[in-house]
Amino acid sequence: MKIGIIGAGRIGGGLARQLAGAGHQLLLSFSRDRAALDELAIRLGPSAGTGSPPDSVAFGEVVVISVPWSVLPQALEQAGPLDGKIVIDTTNQFGGPPLPAEGQTAAAFNAARMPGARYTKSFNTLTSAFQAEAAGRTGDERVVQWLCGDDAAAKEVVAGLIRDAGFVPVDLGGTAGCAVMEAPRRPGAVYGEEYRLADATAVVDAVRAGRPIPPTPRYGPA
Ligand SMILES: NC(=O)c1ccc[n+]([C@@H]2O[C@H](COP(=O)([O-])OP(=O)(O)OC[C@H]3O[C@@H](n4cnc5c(N)ncnc54)[C@H](OP(=O)(O)O)[C@@H]3O)[C@@H](O)[C@H]2O)c1
Repeated sequence: MKIGIIGAGRIGGGLARQLAGAGHQLLLSFSRDRAALDELAIRLGPSAGTGSPPDSVAFGEVVVISVPWSVLPQALEQAGPLDGKIVIDTTNQFGGPPLPAEGQTAAAFNAARMPGARYTKSFNTLTSAFQAEAAGRTGDERVVQWLCGDDAAAKEVVAGLIRDAGFVPVDLGGTAGCAVMEAPRRPGAVYGEEYRLADATAVVDAVRAGRPIPPTPRYGPA
């Protein structure tokens, strides 16, 4: 699949590495240091190139947006229209403004900032270091990447990419109800916590029912 990456830093660069390893084609963009971006693409191999944010959007069937919250307006302005593109937003709402309204999720807020996009949010709950270490675990030890979005077909595509990146996808529902996967880390949320599939279903059930989620699972060394 052709994937545009806007922001190839710790999260976007790590995801690019995982997806290149799975055979996807990548076009990296958005950097204050084009030479460093070119070097990253060279390290990723012949399936990766670099360009401008609009190049990433034109190239990608899927566009990953992985920039600091405060820079998101600038990245979106440079990217241009996202009409019809499946977007994976990895951002967390640290900093700002602009910020979501009281009671509004960051996912819903960002989806509204990307009109026409087939918006999803994922890869945002775990540190880049942990994601790099945990990608590719097998069997029951596979780590969950939560996702949310209001376009079911887009989420199916993103779920496939989550598998390709070495994780297990778990769909938390629409953007309006995904607060448990958003920052900050706190009791009663999955943000910042490792989950495996066996413990994820009960979370989804609780979120759907509007109940508090079960206590955070604790795992021994993988
Ligand atoms: N780090 C984590 O553990 C983690 C975990 C989950 C989610 N997230 C979220 O994912 C998003 C990305 O985080 P990250 O840690 O990957 O960030 P990062 O390492 O700082 O990467 C951000 C990328 O955006 C580019 N960028 C930043 N400002 C720019 C500007 N003014 N003009 C052009 N390019 C610019 C950077 O390129 P240059 O530096 O080359 O300019 C870099 O490639 C954030 O919203 C964060 O909250 C982070």
